[in-house]
Amino acid sequence: MTSGPVLVTGAAGFVGMHVAERLLQRGEVVIGVDDFNAYYDPSLKTLRTERLERHPAFRMVRADIADAPAMAALVKDEGVRRVVHLAAQAGVRYSIENPFAYQRSNLAGHLSVLEACRHGGVQHLVYASSSSVYGDRPLTGQGFREDDPTVNPVSLYAATKRSCELLSQSYASLYGFPQSGLRFFTVYGPMGRPDMAYFGFTEAIMAGRPIEVYGEGRMARDFTYVDDIVDGVIGVLVRPPPRAGHEVYNIGDSHPVGLMEMIATLEAALGREAVKIMRPMQPGDVTATYADVSKLSALTGYAPKVPLAEGLGRFVAWWRDWRGL
Ligand SMILES: NC(=O)c1ccc[n+]([C@@H]2O[C@H](COP(=O)([O-])OP(=O)(O)OC[C@H]3O[C@@H](n4cnc5c(N)ncnc54)[C@H](O)[C@@H]3O)[C@@H](O)[C@H]2O)c1
Repeated sequence: MTSGPVLVTGAAGFVGMHVAERLLQRGEVVIGVDDFNAYYDPSLKTLRTERLERHPAFRMVRADIADAPAMAALVKDEGVRRVVHLAAQAGVRYSIENPFAYQRSNLAGHLSVLEACRHGGVQHLVYASSSSVYGDRPLTGQGFREDDPTVNPVSLYAATKRSCELLSQSYASLYGFPQSGLRFFTVYGPMGRPDMAYFGFTEAIMAGRPIEVYGEGRMARDFTYVDDIVDGVIGVLVRPPPRAGHEVYNIGDSHPVGLMEMIATLEAALGREAVKIMRPMQPGDVTATYADVSKLSALTGYAPKVPLAEGLGRFVAWWRDWRGL
């Protein structure tokens, strides 16, 4: 592997923490960047950071990635050659409430990371995209492929993630540093994001509150356990495309599960039944996601290992411990 520290943006976030931890376990020096914003309970970001800070080879820098001079100085001064860029304003529904948070973190933020990489001599930028770029598609027997059309984003979040891919494509061809974009499919697991359905459902069910089931329960998601996502991220990080190359890969479980089945699996893990209130589809939501992972498997041997029941079981065990229940 190339020497020098790996910069992980969004390291206090859910996926960022797990990626940074795996890199540290592999003997890498890791610098994390995060602004610890309050989109969801920042105490969870502090908890994740404390876990990473137990490793002497980890250091967290509190900064806004949209601060271009700060990012450029960090990359240059620290001799960073590999960047895993995961910081973003996540969430589909919140993009209707607060569109400018997406402009800052996802558009200005991505551009600022690209500029820092370009001037800092970075040899591989791996960044997070999203399955939402595929738009609203019905579930068929075929997974979504990287070369399928991505011209109809149904949320601002999706539009910004697709824009990141286009910005990266232009920078790869203009300035020639290798980049890999990763389209994550619904990531879940311990230390996850409280704004995501499985986490919110857990809180509600255990507090005896009803859960709101959107899309009348007829949605399906390709739920992917966080360790499988990390396998994919590391597999790609160590295999940069050739100079001036930019590749995009799906990382998913390749096994879509209906929302009602996910809820039943969660109820089994919690040992409690949910009171369900059926609601219509929310603006910005898509009906289904389903990853074809053959491109990533061909490159890295990627094969998702953790089925939903096992992964939700691990999440619930962590959640009980975290809540002291
Ligand atoms: N979790 C999923 O299901 C999923 C699915 C598809 C794509 N993604 C993408 O994967 C990446 C990681 O997602 P996550 O689930 O870990 O989300 P997360 O919100 O837990 O992590 C993102 C982190 O980035 C930080 N951040 C946001 N804006 C910032 C800024 N301007 N400057 C510095 N830090 C900033 C946040 O504080 C947070 O800690 C994101 O790019 C997200 O869009 C996630």
